[in-house]
Amino acid sequence: MADKIKLFVNGVEVEVEAGKNLIDAVGAVGIEIPHLCYHPALGADGNCRMCLVGIEDGRPPLVPACKTPAQEGMKVLLDAEHIKKIQHDVMEFELINHPTDCPVCDQAGECKLQDYYMSYDHAKSRMNVPQVVKGKKMDFGAGVVHDQERCVVCGRCVRFCRQITKTGELGIINRTDDARVNIFPGRPLANRYAINVVDLCPVGAMTSKDFRFKQRVWFLKKAPGICHGCSKGCNITIDHNREKYKDDIIYRFRPRLNEQVNGYFMCDEGRLSYKKENEGRLTEARLGTKVRPIDDVLAACSKEMEQAAKIAILLSPNCSLEQMVTVQALAEKIGAALSGYSEGYIKTGDGDDYLIQDDKSANRAGLNLLGIDSSKEGFEKAVQEASLLLNFNNDLTLSYQENELTKLLKDTKIVAVAAAANQCTAMADMAIPVASFSEYAGTLINCDNILQHFAKAITKNEDLADICTIAARLGSPLQNDNERYSVLQKCISALKEFGVDQIPAEGLNLKKSEAANVTA
Ligand code: SF4
Ligand code: SF4
Ligand code: FES
Repeated sequence: MADKIKLFVNGVEVEVEAGKNLIDAVGAVGIEIPHLCYHPALGADGNCRMCLVGIEDGRPPLVPACKTPAQEGMKVLLDAEHIKKIQHDVMEFELINHPTDCPVCDQAGECKLQDYYMSYDHAKSRMNVPQVVKGKKMDFGAGVVHDQERCVVCGRCVRFCRQITKTGELGIINRTDDARVNIFPGRPLANRYAINVVDLCPVGAMTSKDFRFKQRVWFLKKAPGICHGCSKGCNITIDHNREKYKDDIIYRFRPRLNEQVNGYFMCDEGRLSYKKENEGRLTEARLGTKVRPIDDVLAACSKEMEQAAKIAILLSPNCSLEQMVTVQALAEKIGAALSGYSEGYIKTGDGDDYLIQDDKSANRAGLNLLGIDSSKEGFEKAVQEASLLLNFNNDLTLSYQENELTKLLKDTKIVAVAAAANQCTAMADMAIPVASFSEYAGTLINCDNILQHFAKAITKNEDLADICTIAARLGSPLQNDNERYSVLQKCISALKEFGVDQIPAEGLNLKKSEAANVTA
């Protein structure tokens, strides 16, 4: 627990965390100090002067809150006339050359300049001189488009490329009203986190090629989620919308702060992986080549299971812990061999020393914790001995070439329980569509042994069943969420003191309590 201090804001006493600057300290208790250049991940640059406040202790009349540590007993003034005047003056400066293109700007609705104009300025422009003309629609590479005229030269994007990715592709050239952000000639943005500059930009000067003009942001609903693009499990906000007469569609993933996992950022590949939630999905149940109601396919599958002398079951390392224990219980009940073989999900050497991991699965640590064998030998032996393979969403095409897969499974009936349509579902005798991770709730353990819970974010017009439901209908003894969670509580002692809705938002670090059990 961080130390607390008491200070006064506009004469009102507030208790804040010690060791923070004024913006963050009072921001945490709901008091906004406007700021453009400061960002907690990048530190204080002190260039925008939007955060000037008064301190009643004999200091100069105005100090930048981003560079002023909160101190016990401090008397902070935010609403004095001279402070309102400076906020208005700074806004006037920022807007002298700003184009009036809010109606066509992607940032409209989440723009600090718009918000601050309404809160701290709200004055007519006094300018009757031509505005400075700068570059528009500049392709900076890596899916980032820059508009120099909208830029307030806060330098966040430049500092991100220097301090976080350490690639330094961006710089500020020229000075005063001709200052502009640019890339160096012939050297576009070329780092795997580049689109974070779009989130960091407080105005509409950095936009994402992928998202531009797709949606007005005020139509988007926001739901928390966890990226399944690799074993880091970055926290994300899932922005989605159901337009009239259409289905609920995801328009973007954005990073969501979790100091323990990903901080403020995420990688571009994970960010753009939202597309897989919308496209290429398996949507219809199939028996042989015929589309059939899911109940018919489940009935046919149950019959096959009764008749099969031996069954192998394969799990995806992306399955949630709840899905894993439900399928594991099914395997135990019917005496099936259970495997989590998924070598193809690991791209050796692809990870970096920041967020991106080699392992492109979200819950391999969960497979290990539950003692599910993931060896190739174990899987191939199980398949060769079995006459029926139930594949729960494991994309075997990542681990095998097409001809290898055909050879391996030539004598085995296959039931593909899958969220995406791929070669595995195409070669299956029965296919059962299931929800993808934005459409169900679950729990994962990341590469650092941090257990995180995520809620269902998306509800489709016709919701697909979760793997838990399918496994329960095929006979798993774990028929509901309570039963699944109590099994998890037995496996993971740290969960005993938490209900599923009480798992801390920043995740539970199992390193200490579960280290002996977790081998990932
Ligand atoms: S492009 Fe955006 S983040 Fe970069 S300096 Fe300009 S306003 Fe700041
Ligand atoms: S680092 Fe991994 S978990 Fe994080 S956004 Fe990228 S793919 Fe997703
Ligand atoms: S936020 Fe303090 S000077 Fe910009």
